Amino acid sequence: MHTRNPYVLLLSIAALFVACGSAEEQINRRASAAQAANNAPALTPDGMAIFRQYCVLCHGADGKLGLNGAKDLTATTLTLEERINIIAYGKKLMTPFNEILTPEEIKAVAEYTQTLVSKQ
Ligand code: HEC
Repeated sequence: MHTRNPYVLLLSIAALFVACGSAEEQINRRASAAQAANNAPALTPDGMAIFRQYCVLCHGADGKLGLNGAKDLTATTLTLEERINIIAYGKKLMTPFNEILTPEEIKAVAEYTQTLVSKQ
């Protein structure tokens, strides 16, 4: 220590606490901002991105590939609810996605499959 004055020592300890406090506050603020950013896409998942990642393998990017007995998604007449059920629980060779995707993601990708139909 360059000084033996206990008052100065006390002051620097106090300053240290203040510094820690504000750093912590900043981290907390950053954490909640990150949380908000993470929550935003979770509320509106990107159906097309999910489809490209999990579904093109059998259905193809346009929904018509038909691998592994997959149905042509541009020709399906299923309602949104029925699509959600098949995506969640699977059918024949189709993987159930209820343990891979969240309910919001399943709904988003089901809605995306409806756009494959309307494009035709
Ligand atoms: C492993 C291959 C495979 C993958 C991956 C796959 N599917 Fe399927 N999918 C199928 C098969 C096979 C069927 C037909 C089931 C049947 O015979 O009724 C099907 C049927 C469907 C149907 C019903 C179509 C209809 O008219 O009955 C929908 C909707 C669907 N899939 C959406 C998806 C979505 C969305 C994904 C991605 C999250 C996905 N599938 C991933 C194989 C797959």
